[in-house]
Amino acid sequence: MYRDPVQSLEPLPSRNAAPHALRVGMIGIGTVGSGTFRVLARNQAEIAGRAGRPIEVVMVAARNLARAAAVVGGNVPLTHDPMRVATHPNVDVVVEVAGGTGPARDWVLAAIAHGKHVVTANKALLAVHGAEIFAAARQHGVAVAYEGAVAVSIPIVKALREGLTANRIEWVAGIINGTTNFILSKMRDEGLDFGAALAQAQALGYAEADPAFDVEGIDAGHKLTLLAANAFGTPVRFDDVQVEGITALQRLDVACAEQLGYRIKLLGVARRREEGVELRVQPALVPAAHLMAHVNGSMNGVMIKGDAAGVTMYYGAGAGSEQTASAVIADLVDVARLAGTSAAQRVPHLGFHAHAMNTLPVVSRADVCSCHYLRVPVHAASGIEAVAGWAAGRQLPVRQVTLAVGQAGSGPQVLVLTQPVRQAEMELALNALQAHPAVAGAITALRVEELA
Ligand code: HSE
Repeated sequence: MYRDPVQSLEPLPSRNAAPHALRVGMIGIGTVGSGTFRVLARNQAEIAGRAGRPIEVVMVAARNLARAAAVVGGNVPLTHDPMRVATHPNVDVVVEVAGGTGPARDWVLAAIAHGKHVVTANKALLAVHGAEIFAAARQHGVAVAYEGAVAVSIPIVKALREGLTANRIEWVAGIINGTTNFILSKMRDEGLDFGAALAQAQALGYAEADPAFDVEGIDAGHKLTLLAANAFGTPVRFDDVQVEGITALQRLDVACAEQLGYRIKLLGVARRREEGVELRVQPALVPAAHLMAHVNGSMNGVMIKGDAAGVTMYYGAGAGSEQTASAVIADLVDVARLAGTSAAQRVPHLGFHAHAMNTLPVVSRADVCSCHYLRVPVHAASGIEAVAGWAAGRQLPVRQVTLAVGQAGSGPQVLVLTQPVRQAEMELALNALQAHPAVAGAITALRVEELA
């Protein structure tokens, strides 16, 4: 049963009107929203004990009211209209978990303009419209909290923004998309093909509404820009992230990487260089013995290098209903604790106060310098001589040239590991190698990240 969407909003039920309760209006009650509602209900006493007051959902906006009613029961008013939740006087904090960047921007800006705090797990929204949203929140003195937007269950925003404040952060690197990590793990461990693994990730509620965001690296790019902003005090800037997904990745490369002692992971890397910051999401080889190589399934892993703390690493679920709810509710508890504080006393949205933010230049793709893995199909095993000669002729710093073994059916393949080489030089050299008569097909090049 659900109530008429308009009548049900006025007045709010008195049982929810405990004077000191934090009154939550939710926009969206899908995978994340339903998990949030469930966990809030299940752990309400403990959560209230930590927050210092009860946290109550007083209104929910959903597209499908019957489905919403099945989640929240008959006592929470429902509406089709998110803007009513965003602007309702009886709502203290708006939880936006509907996703998307169009209407969601309007709802969030309206909530802020009405003096409401916002909690969101919408990384796309913040990556694209973050500058505008955070500026509006500063102007109106409200919080915009987004722990659920990055590596869901891992309190990584809190780690960067609060735990590591003593440090000059040198780099952040990690597996920050659960869906692609799940797909890569299934392909490697169970021999599943890409499509079947993606279908499983979708059925488990890991993937974005449009899974292209996951498999093309866009979702990881959204998260990386939020991490980089908190790490370096630079504004959110999704357009500056170099993004490459896993759709072109071949199982042959997964096997060849194993032979060389590596695993392939979709990595987000934000690194401070003298000339600026590198912001990139790419499938990369990581040493098989490294902890990051053992972050499997839908799990996420993030490493942060600070000049004082050294390397710290964080591991946890990277997608899922209650896993994301855990972060959303942690943000709600933080908001509940804000009562009586002024904006100046609060943790800044991106870790740095606005006057201390600094738009650092972004290192161009051509200037990114890293180790590379190459797989070169050749007509015959003797082609290894040609590849070695090409590297010597180009004075490319190469640390290993070897033949792939046990890849029957794929023809002979020469595998190369380089030392750090600038992308621009690598591409020039690869163009020359591609035209060599010993080469029998398209060369595959991937970055190698030692994460040392
Ligand atoms: N689709 C996202 C992922 C959900 O797979 O990581 C969590 O942000």
